[in-house]
Amino acid sequence: MTVTAHEILFQHSLSVILNNQQPGGAYLACPTMPDYQFSWFRDGAYIAYALTLDGERVSLAYKASMAAQWESAARFHNWCAGVINRRAEKLERCIERAANGLPPIPTDTLNARYRADGEEGPDDWPEFQLDGPGTWLWSLAEFVRRTHLRPLPLAWEQAASLTARYLAALWQTPCYDCWEERGDDVHISTLGAIYAGLQAAQRLVPALDLGNTAQQIRTYVLEHGLTPGGELAKSVGLDMVDANLLSVSVPHGLLSPDDPIMRRTVARIERELCAPTGGVHRHLDDVYYGGGAWVLLALWLAWYYLEIGNVQHADELIRWSEAQTDSTLNLPEQVNSAMLAPAHYEVWVERRGPIANPLLWSHAMYLIARLRRATFS
Ligand code: BGC
Repeated sequence: MTVTAHEILFQHSLSVILNNQQPGGAYLACPTMPDYQFSWFRDGAYIAYALTLDGERVSLAYKASMAAQWESAARFHNWCAGVINRRAEKLERCIERAANGLPPIPTDTLNARYRADGEEGPDDWPEFQLDGPGTWLWSLAEFVRRTHLRPLPLAWEQAASLTARYLAALWQTPCYDCWEERGDDVHISTLGAIYAGLQAAQRLVPALDLGNTAQQIRTYVLEHGLTPGGELAKSVGLDMVDANLLSVSVPHGLLSPDDPIMRRTVARIERELCAPTGGVHRHLDDVYYGGGAWVLLALWLAWYYLEIGNVQHADELIRWSEAQTDSTLNLPEQVNSAMLAPAHYEVWVERRGPIANPLLWSHAMYLIARLRRATFS
């Protein structure tokens, strides 16, 4: 049997992830960039999901119940539960203030990124982001469902229930989006992540009563979250799309991938954000590292196309992503072969150093796209 190039990249992606997991369970977003040597709920949730899927594949193939992939994902979920449970008092205060019509105290909300030991990172970061905890709940529920883990460890149950109540209390509060931008807006992709998180928590902890809030969020998105052209809007009131809107359907399921609104949204993403040289930009205002083409977004679009059965288009996107590896097979966050705002590129290199590489989230999306692709052949 010949080992193909994509199998080598698949194995390398697994190694990059596993080698950069910290003893306590955190995944560093990128081991080489100082600003990214932290663990994010969002990046980690997708990484753990990729390992959950691959662990399932290995377990089925070898009839072994505890693959290294599952062991790693479980350690990440445990780390998240610890980070959240240790902040229970602050999160309860956010919930109580919301019930009294008061905004959260900024130092009470969950951070976007934490140090590997679970402590807060430096203060100079747009920390208040609600999509990350929502995506974590979704990833946790996927892990529990696919591993048939029962009963739920007590610390996980406490963290899931607390996180869900926190999100249900704060979902209408403006926050930074998954790109850590526009902190005064309400973002549709963030609402999708909260929606998925509440539904996931409800499955994990049936005693919670959050189904109505999830439905309210969905109704709110359909009433306030569309552009004049009938696409999902990047944020409430903006006639703009963002490639992060793919998440509203895949994987967050607020709309099905073939819903006409989703189809229109993806058509506009194709028109405005797909780079002529391949790859996908985040949004038209992007200046971060010149606003290059993101590998994880190309793979996300591939994942979306696989969900609607367009294998050919998915293959083109996967092939482009595979071509973005460096000589050691690492995948970066973005590439600057197509930039929306080239004048900004050097500014960011001076501020943060070269583009993050390897980015564990890019490798995770590669695993997800390849595993989904394998179900077609
Ligand atoms: C991205 C976030 C990501 C973080 C770590 C930021 O630049 O905008 O989406 O979570 O990097 O990878």
